[in-house]
Amino acid sequence: MKLGMVGWRGMVGSVLMDRMMAEKDFDFVSTTFFSTSNAGGKAPDVPNADPVLKDAGDLDALAACDVVITCQGGDWTKEHFGELREKGWNGYWIDAASTLRMEKDAIIVLDPVNMDVIQKGLESGVKNYVGGNCTVSLLLMALDGLIQADLIEWITSMTYQAASGAGAPNMRELLKQMGDLYGVVADDLQDPRSAILAIDRKVTEEMRSPEFPVKAFGVPLAGSLIPWIDREVEHGQSREEWKGGAEANKILGLPGIGEKGCLPIDGLCVRVGSMRCHSQALTIKLKKDISCEEIEKILAGANQWVKVIPNHKEETIQELTPAKVSGTLSVPIGRIHKLNIGPEYVTAFTVGDQLLWGAAEPLRRMLRILVD
Ligand code: HSE
Repeated sequence: MKLGMVGWRGMVGSVLMDRMMAEKDFDFVSTTFFSTSNAGGKAPDVPNADPVLKDAGDLDALAACDVVITCQGGDWTKEHFGELREKGWNGYWIDAASTLRMEKDAIIVLDPVNMDVIQKGLESGVKNYVGGNCTVSLLLMALDGLIQADLIEWITSMTYQAASGAGAPNMRELLKQMGDLYGVVADDLQDPRSAILAIDRKVTEEMRSPEFPVKAFGVPLAGSLIPWIDREVEHGQSREEWKGGAEANKILGLPGIGEKGCLPIDGLCVRVGSMRCHSQALTIKLKKDISCEEIEKILAGANQWVKVIPNHKEETIQELTPAKVSGTLSVPIGRIHKLNIGPEYVTAFTVGDQLLWGAAEPLRRMLRILVD
């Protein structure tokens, strides 16, 4: 199988490259690396790869591939995907961008959760396979067991989303903001007797100063939060919130939100100052009253990456945080207990690395499904 890799140098692309090397994915394909800016340059040194970079605008070179994986972004997909298909190219398109996600002839890939949907797609000749929105994929990885057991009536998800979801410049800006805030009070912090309210006043002034670095986020994130992600859509929802319901149902092969048989999912999406882990506080209405022990057993057995964290303080603060999960494929879920609202109402908290299961991992796994 001939693989074309596009957008392998960016943030998601680099995480994907690392994972593909770790899992020896390149051993099973012959790879051409494409570049939008450095055609003719040296390609990454991986097994079975053409040593020279090809031009990512060269449709003939792309059409020579059996599979194209792209992390180049939505604009590149918009520009080249249609043209390539119009040329009669019938290869597999595996994409990290959201451009094609909701198209009828595309499947959103998250194989631990929707292998049946992927298999059906392959059998019926679907050629476009797209990675899901990060919060959606991480939510479904965590709740896989309860969903497969058809125990959920509806879900609300209140998110705590990392800077990485907004892009690499945003991660840099978050760190600059943190550094700036520290900088204005560094001397005061040396003195244990300095007044905390005076320190806080300086921090707030710095946050509001016109010099504070906010080019990427538009407003401060460090020491603050931003309760809006992506653009406004209908009914007061942000697009990130809309994706929760729309994409999750598509991944699961269910009817769309509002239609009979769908899984209602909605909530608020909030940007916080974590680096690359998205967290979500969930309220789940179960279809019937089952015990928390039963819920934990069902969740823990669903896939090899979900990890149930006992609902006690020490385990929770050690295991259920971005600091712990960052850079790993583990998807812990904890804080599981019944809400006082009623016996069918359960709450839970889950954390996941948005660059791994949230972006790169489902793409490389789709390649392996095609190869195997
Ligand atoms: N849209 C997500 C976010 C990231 O802004 O955090 C990618 O799915």
